[in-house]
Amino acid sequence: MSANQPRVASLLYEVVPGTAVDVSGWVRTRRDSKHGFSFIELNDGSCMSNLQIVVDADVPGYAETIKLVTTGASVRVTGELKESPGAKQRVEMQAKTLELLGVADPETYPLQKKAHSFEFLREIAHLRPRSNTFGAIARLRNCVCTAIHDFFQERGFLYVHTPIITTSDCEGAGEMFTVTTLSKINSEEDFAEDFFGKKAHLTVSGQLEGEIYATAVGPVYTFGPTFRAENSNTVRHLSEFWMTEPEVPFFELTDDMQLAEDFIKFIAQRCLDRCAEDMQFFNDRIDKTILETVRNILDNDFKRITYTEAVELIKQSGKTWEYKVEWGSNLQAEHERWLTEEHFGQPIIVYDYPRSLKPFYMYCNDDGKTVRAMDVLVPRVGEIIGGSQREHRLDVLEARFKECNLDPKEYWWYLDLRRFGTVPHSGFGLGLERMILLLSGMQNIRDVIPFPRSPKSAEF
Ligand code: 4AD
Ligand code: MG
Repeated sequence: MSANQPRVASLLYEVVPGTAVDVSGWVRTRRDSKHGFSFIELNDGSCMSNLQIVVDADVPGYAETIKLVTTGASVRVTGELKESPGAKQRVEMQAKTLELLGVADPETYPLQKKAHSFEFLREIAHLRPRSNTFGAIARLRNCVCTAIHDFFQERGFLYVHTPIITTSDCEGAGEMFTVTTLSKINSEEDFAEDFFGKKAHLTVSGQLEGEIYATAVGPVYTFGPTFRAENSNTVRHLSEFWMTEPEVPFFELTDDMQLAEDFIKFIAQRCLDRCAEDMQFFNDRIDKTILETVRNILDNDFKRITYTEAVELIKQSGKTWEYKVEWGSNLQAEHERWLTEEHFGQPIIVYDYPRSLKPFYMYCNDDGKTVRAMDVLVPRVGEIIGGSQREHRLDVLEARFKECNLDPKEYWWYLDLRRFGTVPHSGFGLGLERMILLLSGMQNIRDVIPFPRSPKSAEF
């Protein structure tokens, strides 16, 4: 097989009719005409659309091969691109040779033409990328990832790799997977004999290490897999997800909020520009409001309200809630979604949360009650970004460790950053999968990551 074979996307949209072409891919459907020729709809994953290929009966081997060219089979075809008489596509291909690479027995190949439920497709995660929806998700995910890098690179941020195995707990919530080579653990002391000589985990966030680099080389971002052992089996949580975390020295909370807003808008615009066909598919087939939602994101300034204002609005809404809200209680998904979807009808940023709700590292406001935290909430998804200005004052941070029952000795290096050349700094984390939920209209986070991990589920 040749490495410079064109992809279907370039054949459909770029290559001029009359060009000799050589293409490989998977058969979506085959139709046989009464007049002794066949149409193959070929897909190679480069775009949503199929290349229509006309195979006349005089193509060598037609009689023996064509019956095996069924949905899911792989083929290589050479021939010529020509203008299509059909209105549906600009071009089609006239085959000169047809080579069957691999059969897909129609009796047993699970992805026949009929629509399948996402639940069923989750059980065949090794085949679902061959469906229209999961092909589109794969392309969208790729587009979002390159947009993330481009956004930060264009602004001079350095991409920093923070560790996956770590001995610190960033969020202080203890929802971590332990990394060990011990076969039996009787007590915490056993970890002294473990591989790293102390208890190690899979990272829940690269932020603390991001801060190390931000206070040395300037604005940085991390982007990598993140692990949380929270036992929440929801459509918005994964045990393994991807997060990107910028960290910026000399930034205060308002700068951080602006960066988060610009960032989301940049990614949304990029997907409209570079994934137009897939975005149209999501709008037609997954959620009729997707393009409108994206326009709404691009056209409006994100509304900024304090946590205190948010609580007041929720209390005055006159709605009945599953969870009651008082100042000091966590906003639940139902409250967040009501605020962004119904009350404001656009993305919002809630900031200045009660310090009792938030991790040790957030900057304490003078009111003694709140910290400079911010969450970006968007329609349908709820929280998509969590961030804050960091506590950079040594004495205040030491007091916070006490308040949060954390051992400052475990964080000696984090405190050193405040001892030596401390500066105000801020950052946030964007959940990649939540961003893809927002842009695709998909309902379940398990359907926007290739191989989802969640409680009791890690096949493949
Ligand atoms: O709000 P979180 O927990 O913030 C942090 O981890 C900070 N250290 C970030 C920072 O300031 N550098 O997580 C950030 C985002 C959430 O808003 C959400 O989008 C996503 O990560 N997220 C999850 N996505 C999928 N599954 C989970 N279990 C997630 N937990 C968080
Ligand atoms: Mg959060």
